[in-house]
Amino acid sequence: MTIPTPFTDGYDKAFLLENMMGPNAMRVAEEMASFLTLRPGMRVLDLGCGMGISSILLAEKFGVTVFAADLWIPPTDNFRRFAALGLEARIIPLHVDATGTLPFAEGYFDVLFSVDSYQYFGADETMLPKLLPLVRPGGEVAVAVPGLLRELPPARKPWVGVSGLEVPPELQPYWVQEMDGQFHSLPWWRALWEQAPGLRLGPCREMDCLRRAWADWLESPHPYARRDVSMMQAEGGKHFSLVQLCGQRM
Ligand SMILES: C[S@@+](CC[C@H](N)C(=O)[O-])C[C@H]1O[C@@H](n2cnc3c(N)ncnc32)[C@H](O)[C@@H]1O
Repeated sequence: MTIPTPFTDGYDKAFLLENMMGPNAMRVAEEMASFLTLRPGMRVLDLGCGMGISSILLAEKFGVTVFAADLWIPPTDNFRRFAALGLEARIIPLHVDATGTLPFAEGYFDVLFSVDSYQYFGADETMLPKLLPLVRPGGEVAVAVPGLLRELPPARKPWVGVSGLEVPPELQPYWVQEMDGQFHSLPWWRALWEQAPGLRLGPCREMDCLRRAWADWLESPHPYARRDVSMMQAEGGKHFSLVQLCGQRM
């Protein structure tokens, strides 16, 4: 039996390196999508799509129509990127702040999808109940976030540094205060989603592509990627994970 090569491995590497904003979102999207039922013509909301490489994977590999919504990246930039690939009819770029009013009809999407962005706006009990109504009954929700293998305990003494948590010494030079609220373990995220009314929990897991997705990103010339090289050396596989959360709207 031959094992199919991931779509991501055959993709234009230079294009991916130019458009990554963290661990390779195309690779992460491809692994997470393998847990979903995606059919051509379905409507997918890619929330926090950044420069849209997860949206491109979804449109090109699965033939779905993607609403590529993001806060920081101007939709005009994404439109140009998608049009250059001939995907302007299948990926619709939008400016959306997930914490504000959402410009979508209830029940409109077959799938809500998000890679490496949900931690910025979804790490509390209010966001999933707000987003879930946008998905049709029976539709799916799939989120991948960078996380931790274990929750960090509260700091034992008031910190001179930036965190209220007991951050391992090797991570302290890279830790910023916002990470306290964003970086969580799989059990933490699963417990949060278990509380959401109207969600049937699906495959929640640590993703296999963690190392490869990070290795792809560390090849990028982006200054943040250059900085992350030493962070990943210091981390040494002891702390970080990539958390996948899936569920179905009942
Ligand atoms: C680290 S980037 C990842 C982008 C892309 N998903 C990827 O993996 O390459 C995080 C993204 O989250 C988006 N984001 C943060 N807060 C958001 C919000 N409130 N609403 C929508 N998007 C948000 C940012 O615009 C940014 O593009």
